[in-house]
Amino acid sequence: MKKFLIAGNWKMHKTPNESIIFVNELLRRIKDYKDRDILICPPFTSLYPISQILKDRPIKLGAQNVYFENEGPYTGEISPLMLKDIGVEYVICGHSERRNIFGETDEIINKKVKKTVEMGMKAILCVGEKLEEREKGKTFEIIENQIKKSLENFDNIENLVIAYEPVWAIGTGKTAQPSQAEEVHIFIRELISRIYNKEFAENLIILYGGSVKPENIDQLMKEKNIDGVLVGNACLKVDSFLRIIDYKIL
Ligand code: PGA
Repeated sequence: MKKFLIAGNWKMHKTPNESIIFVNELLRRIKDYKDRDILICPPFTSLYPISQILKDRPIKLGAQNVYFENEGPYTGEISPLMLKDIGVEYVICGHSERRNIFGETDEIINKKVKKTVEMGMKAILCVGEKLEEREKGKTFEIIENQIKKSLENFDNIENLVIAYEPVWAIGTGKTAQPSQAEEVHIFIRELISRIYNKEFAENLIILYGGSVKPENIDQLMKEKNIDGVLVGNACLKVDSFLRIIDYKIL
């Protein structure tokens, strides 16, 4: 049976020392879950110390970005080999902040997804429309385009997670209505079924991201096609992240 995934994207928050304190408290208080995986994605500088703490513990480790070469003259970049070596299992590829602030294109994201998976890690491919695109009725067109381009010539599909993150909901406090998110998740699953096959589409983990918080997690997780969440702001405090992890489908 597929496991749900609750992922925390720390973005550019927490020094290595703050990260260690946070993770130790999280480990002390987290329950044992059989039906869900828990993932944290700290900044690069915290990955190594945290990887040492998380060995054989019930929280998985992810990175927020990666470069698509193993080594070479790429000043300032981090390679998949370096991440794999310290026990990173997931890499977020194509987050909207990477696309919109740092100019990452679908072509670059495609290389990152392929390289991540080739190196034996799972890629979390982020897609999502901007507010003006939604208002013009272009949501599905944008999502289809991002997915098709980012997954071009990619067939190692078991190691893929897709995160639907409407740009207008990220860091704004505005969450998509559960039914709005569900509608896009259904669209993504159908698209993946068309590109690959039905069985893979059914098993694919599709996350929702964008102002997920303790107040809305239970409603979001009730939707049939939402298999987990990618959380920004609300994963930075232990209490609030634990409440999200401990979601209940009433
Ligand atoms: P947010 O960020 O929860 O702060 O909206 C989500 C994300 O960017 O993944």
